[in-house]
Amino acid sequence: MFYTILGTQWGDEGKGKIVDWISSKVDLIVRYQGGNNAGHTIKVDNKVYKLNLLPSGIINNKKCAIGNGVVLDPWALINEINNLKKNGINVNTNNLFIADNICLILPIHKLLDEINEKNRGQNKIGTTKKGIGPAYEDKVGRRAIRICDLKYPSLLRKKIDILHAYHEDKLMKYNFQKTTNYYDELLSISDYLNSFTVPLWKMINDLGQENKKIVFEGAQGSMLDIDFGTYPFVTSSNTISGQIFSGTGFSNRNNHKILGITKAYTTRVGSGPFPTELNDKIGLYLGDKGKEFGTVTKRKRRCGWLDSVLLKQSIKLNSITDIVLTKLDVLDGLKEIKVCIGYDIEGKNYDYLPNEEYFYNKIKPIYKTVDGWQTSTEGISELNNLPDNAIKYIKIIEDLTETKISIVSTGPDRKETIDINGTLSNI
Ligand code: GDP
Ligand code: IMO
Ligand code: MG
Repeated sequence: MFYTILGTQWGDEGKGKIVDWISSKVDLIVRYQGGNNAGHTIKVDNKVYKLNLLPSGIINNKKCAIGNGVVLDPWALINEINNLKKNGINVNTNNLFIADNICLILPIHKLLDEINEKNRGQNKIGTTKKGIGPAYEDKVGRRAIRICDLKYPSLLRKKIDILHAYHEDKLMKYNFQKTTNYYDELLSISDYLNSFTVPLWKMINDLGQENKKIVFEGAQGSMLDIDFGTYPFVTSSNTISGQIFSGTGFSNRNNHKILGITKAYTTRVGSGPFPTELNDKIGLYLGDKGKEFGTVTKRKRRCGWLDSVLLKQSIKLNSITDIVLTKLDVLDGLKEIKVCIGYDIEGKNYDYLPNEEYFYNKIKPIYKTVDGWQTSTEGISELNNLPDNAIKYIKIIEDLTETKISIVSTGPDRKETIDINGTLSNI
């Protein structure tokens, strides 16, 4: 059986927590897109771990893999491995496998990310400045340096020169010549990095054939997808489930459960449309109670009501089989709760988010208002112990999306989870 855990909104839905939960019962956890722009938090018995590149299964000492769809910053990876070591988690060639054709994020990409954002001025995307976009641009432009290139010094020299010649004008303009000096450094870490590399497409298909259990860990969220998100305010990779196959080489489409991790409200970091955003006391309340600060950039996350229009869109785009509703506890104490059920754009009703950027600031959400609950749901692990109105809220989301909510999360810790129909415990 294969499982995918991905975000249905704009990221930070609580994917890390659910991957950690599920990973104790599976054989391999794989990242298939994005890079260290991701920040996945896991809380186990009062200890908090934050992962950017490594799959969340590493906390359980499970076999983890980073697929070719990811862009890999070698120094960020080494830092992450060293930090985990300080916390007693040992990353080694028995538990980490990296696709040998993965493309690298180099110092030049971080500079370009910075320069591009500056040049966008008012229209900036609000990227994480980790070099993600420029690295993917070089990949598609067929100039990227892949991890396997590090083994061949003269090839590496040639490829770095070609890459820098391509970006020269821009770099000269901003006086960033110093970035070419990492050739020696890359050579010195090549053996270490390549000790983790494998033809991952082969390994993963073999494991699939042996009926091993594999979890695909999404980063970002469906509304940040380069094609189906709120373009251009998106990340530079495909974040939807279709990417699993090109981002790892895995080819089996059967026996796959796709869990859509969904916050009980909505958050977004960075710029771009957000129809249900709340610039009022309730928005502040959600941000405060939900501790909504970015894991990677520490920026304050924008907060708003749950948007069932976008959720339905994500369910279709990803073939989501089950919803996992997270951070329900953050809604405790609200008198009433709103859910967006449609959009009014220039007097016309929409049941989806249109692609036209022209509409982005003209979207008026149409709401359904439901009663809130006043007692705490924090840490509840049995459905029947939830207040009636919380159960009603869950049912309303199921009805609106015509999709079952199989898991509800009521706190950051592993134990603070309601496994409604045994989805997790039966793995
Ligand atoms: P990810 O990027 O999707 O893995 O999510 P992040 O880790 O960036 O953000 C989710 C935050 O919410 C983390 O700080 C989690 O520890 C926390 N969290 C996850 N589930 C719950 C929950 O059900 N309730 C509360 N209060 N916090 C949660
Ligand atoms: P996880 O996996 C939330 C956002 C950035 C920015 C846009 C583009 O933790 O859910 P990029 O650096 O990717 O070019 O930035 O995407 N973004 C995220 N927002 N969670 C994430 O990851 C994100 N990764 C990127 O804030 O708006
Ligand atoms: Mg995050």
